[in-house]
Amino acid sequence: MAPRERPLDGLPSPPAALGSRSGFHTNIEEILISEHDLNRRVTELAAEVQGYYAGQDLVLVGVLKGAIMFMTDLARQLPLSLEMDFMAVSSYGNATQSSGVVRITKDLDGSIEGRNVLLVEDVVDSGLTLRYLLENLRSRNPASLRVCALLNKRVPRKANVTVEHIGFEIPNRFVVGYGLDFAENYRNLPYIGVLKTDVYATS
Ligand code: IMP
Ligand code: MG
Repeated sequence: MAPRERPLDGLPSPPAALGSRSGFHTNIEEILISEHDLNRRVTELAAEVQGYYAGQDLVLVGVLKGAIMFMTDLARQLPLSLEMDFMAVSSYGNATQSSGVVRITKDLDGSIEGRNVLLVEDVVDSGLTLRYLLENLRSRNPASLRVCALLNKRVPRKANVTVEHIGFEIPNRFVVGYGLDFAENYRNLPYIGVLKTDVYATS
């Protein structure tokens, strides 16, 4: 039987090679946050969150789909007894800007009444999506409600929202990877990258 083909030394193909095949990595202008830096910061955030909720009941509420990678990595580093639930929202707006008018496309499976809720978001930009979510969740009477966002864009907020735990402050650029998408693509990039402007300007 012929031996199975393996990449040289068992290493994955370099991004450039992948890009030349699929245009996947080649549409990235710049890596803003490397995989290594993401891992390191998520570990720090987990310690922060752990310090706050130690000994308490906790429900992590992830906002699909953007927060999926972040939430699963964060949760794995929390030595707490916790539950994980998800909401999916779709925002009316153009491809790269939210309007703040949000529709819930998947609601939580369980009740959060009387529970400590940590809302896990991918990125806070205008703050409009987060404001909607916080108002919605608050109306269900949780014992506490706080926010952990991987990214916080340095932009003037359209909605005044408090984010208790922030992974990284980033400039006002459109980013993809580690859960964040453009037109449902790029979520599986292991890093956060800036998408080349011509990718979204032409689509
Ligand atoms: P906001 O309502 O303007 O704060 O936008 C928040 C939502 O818009 C996020 O949860 C993302 O789904 C999306 N979003 C905002 N900025 C980016 C980005 O740079 N890349 C990908 N999605 C983004
Ligand atoms: Mg999102």
